[in-house]
Amino acid sequence: MNILLLGSGGRESAFAMKLAESKSCEKLFIAPGNAGTSAFGTNVNISVNDFAAIKSLCIAQDINLVLVGPEDPLVNGIVDFFADDEELVHIPVIGPSKEGAQLEGSKDFSKRFMQRHAIPTAAYETFTKEDLDKGLAYLENHSLPIVLKADGLAAGKGVLICNSTEEAKQELTLMLAEAKFGQASQKVVIEEFLAGIELSVFVLTDGFSYKILPSAKDYKRIGEADTGLNTGGMGSISPVPFADETFLQKVEERIVIPSMEGLAAENIDYKGFLFIGLMNVAGEPMVIEYNVRMGDPETESVISRIQNDFVELMHAVADERLESQKLLIDPRHAATVMLVAGGYPGDYEKGKVITHLTPMEDAFIFHAGTKLENENVVTNGGRVIAVTALDHDPKIALENANALANQIQFEGKYFRTDIGKDLAIYR
Ligand code: AMP
Ligand code: GLY
Repeated sequence: MNILLLGSGGRESAFAMKLAESKSCEKLFIAPGNAGTSAFGTNVNISVNDFAAIKSLCIAQDINLVLVGPEDPLVNGIVDFFADDEELVHIPVIGPSKEGAQLEGSKDFSKRFMQRHAIPTAAYETFTKEDLDKGLAYLENHSLPIVLKADGLAAGKGVLICNSTEEAKQELTLMLAEAKFGQASQKVVIEEFLAGIELSVFVLTDGFSYKILPSAKDYKRIGEADTGLNTGGMGSISPVPFADETFLQKVEERIVIPSMEGLAAENIDYKGFLFIGLMNVAGEPMVIEYNVRMGDPETESVISRIQNDFVELMHAVADERLESQKLLIDPRHAATVMLVAGGYPGDYEKGKVITHLTPMEDAFIFHAGTKLENENVVTNGGRVIAVTALDHDPKIALENANALANQIQFEGKYFRTDIGKDLAIYR
């Protein structure tokens, strides 16, 4: 089978490794990929949003399956684009339809969906520019802190947690009246703050049945002890110790099943991954957000623990035979540490030569922002490399990931050494 994988981050490196391992994978293409993905297949320099170029590639290379990594092409309707094109309709695309992708593409859509299906989430109201005054009045009577969310995709920057009513009013005005996040903040969701500990649960569905993948926790802030600016994610662990059987049963009954039934009841085509961002509020799961893809760097930890033939799993999703599949999960703990460029998530330089990329036993080096330049691997983004280590002892998994993070060298390298350490089993 010839497969096209869309994306270029650490998540896609992990997917590429897993797809390439399968005996059924004949040719693997990654668009656009990075220096690491080229070890598993052929990189093609096409943007994930250039559907016309993707079409030409699929036809020229006789592609049999497309796996979409990031949310952008899904929100832009790549699944519908294939379904509506005579020459592409026979090629399954793993990802939701444009309508399904609204679960991530519009916070207002996802909140309304949760409300319709009685899925536990924070109380909220949505406001537009026209009703800014109503929004400001709503803030007056809101408990603190207040969460403001730009409705649309804002590259992970569209959520603000305000500690005073004054700050919330200023930000709401900036978002609605002055388009702080452009189109994305034409609507703003004002939401109750949930206090608890976050985790990510991933569901794979073929539209009829589903499998819950291993849970993971990501570490979003740049600084040790989760301080400083938000990033795309600085590390992850899987499994999540507090997501025990009782908690996961609540997640399945109260959130996963109503989400799946809700999609079916509303005739929303959804074949692919659903990433449920959860807050554990005193033992009760509440949904913070849906994403319509896998997380990054959660995927690096989660995929490393999935032992199934990944192509077979994707094929089963495409053919609506997921129910017949049994998930095989490595019982070991996975710890992922992200190596980032100095200055990230602010300004940073690119083009730094990366050395000492020697693998280690029971560990993986997943490239994220890297590219090949004159036979050198050089940095090409803020998040540069994710290293994942596996061990029965979570402390050893983390130690090995840190050792590998220490070993790899590039100018300005930074990583957090405290991934997992908020959890007793990693200390
Ligand atoms: P999102 O883009 O929806 O993932 O939000 C970014 C981050 O903001 C989340 O990972 C949470 O840490 C935080 N957040 C979002 N919504 C809430 C909420 N209602 N209560 C507390 N924290 C939140
Ligand atoms: N790690 C969070 C995300 O992928 O959105």
